[in-house]
Amino acid sequence: MKFINPCLLAVTAVLFVNCSAKKGVTSLKDVYKKDFYIGTALSADQIEEKDAKVDSLIKKEFNAITAENIMKSMYTHPQKDKYDFALSDKFVAYGEKNKMFIHGHTLIWHSQLAPWMEKIEDSTDMKAFMRDHITTIVSKYKGRINSWDVVNEALNDDGTLRQSIFFKTLGEKYLVDAFKLAEKADPKVDLYYNDYNIEEPAKRAGAIALIKKIKAAGGKVDGVGIQGHWRLQSPSIEEIEKSILEYSALGIKVAFTELDITVLPNPWDLKGADVNQKFEGSAKMNPYPEKLPDSVQTQLVERYASIFKLFLKHKDKISRVTFWGVYDGQSWLNDWPIKGRTNYPLPFDKDLKHKQAYDSILKLKKTKE
Ligand code: G3I
Repeated sequence: MKFINPCLLAVTAVLFVNCSAKKGVTSLKDVYKKDFYIGTALSADQIEEKDAKVDSLIKKEFNAITAENIMKSMYTHPQKDKYDFALSDKFVAYGEKNKMFIHGHTLIWHSQLAPWMEKIEDSTDMKAFMRDHITTIVSKYKGRINSWDVVNEALNDDGTLRQSIFFKTLGEKYLVDAFKLAEKADPKVDLYYNDYNIEEPAKRAGAIALIKKIKAAGGKVDGVGIQGHWRLQSPSIEEIEKSILEYSALGIKVAFTELDITVLPNPWDLKGADVNQKFEGSAKMNPYPEKLPDSVQTQLVERYASIFKLFLKHKDKISRVTFWGVYDGQSWLNDWPIKGRTNYPLPFDKDLKHKQAYDSILKLKKTKE
């Protein structure tokens, strides 16, 4: 028998293990480690680690988490004198256990309110609600949650203030109050204003004016969350870039907080139709129930690549990029704006396999290094 030097064997084994380990750690969070956090939004089941495969994907790919629903006020504060932190405690513990950046979503939002909140009619009751709600929640997680969406979606698309229940009872002062209350409860936590379409010119101007006003009135705003519920063709990379530059010029961080890209037709582009009813279940509005055609897959790949190329160009201004969901099968876009469609908005498909879009995001870094 031929003699094999045991030292050589040992060295080969170590090399092999190292190489495999390196191969194994290729993930979004590792590749973008020096640039910005790569986050995902977790469902209740994911927070509870109900599916081991999904869980290992989350831990491998992401280093920041947001709760997709369970920290909204209808869940955390179901009755005036009752809070329910069972799931949000688990969410925060999950982030801590996995050394992830933990983002709180959201404190003041007109949607997904508990029924009792919707009945608040006057300024005294609304003030009391805001003080109790913000102070209780932010204090509870003081030093454990890294950033908060203090106010979510306060603007209309034309940049004017939404006539929300908060605006109707308190006027625009509610915005400054919310940020002041949050800062008082945890002076060190990063405070964000979060909204969709705020990369569009009119709404962006509204958001800039709003952030300036809050700051001028003594509120602490650390960042803006551009949600990033985008389409294949819009918004343009130019508008996104202008947004990064203009928000960052306010001296705040820019985060992309709910990124996904729909590939399905939008009923609102079809003029004059009673959209939600009429197109429900129609094949025309759900064109890819089984598989995404290669031509559209290619568009998605290019779209994600150009978006991340821009993010990398401005990595010094960007704190975090969070996808709105872990994989296509769980995306809210399968049920909005029409229920029961099959959409393909994320880097992982319904079987948890990484898509070509994922490869294109990784490749941007690999070619640079
Ligand atoms: O929990 C109930 C469940 O008990 C019930 O059986 C089921 C029946 O439809 O509904 C479940 O609640 C749903 C909830 O998500 C949890 O899955 C609601 O119907 C559904 O409306 C709700 O949608 C969420 C939506 O916010 C509500 O506004 C989406 O999951 C969530 O992705 C979406 O997230 C928002 C951000 O918070 C803010 N920015 C926009 C973004 C997308 O709309």
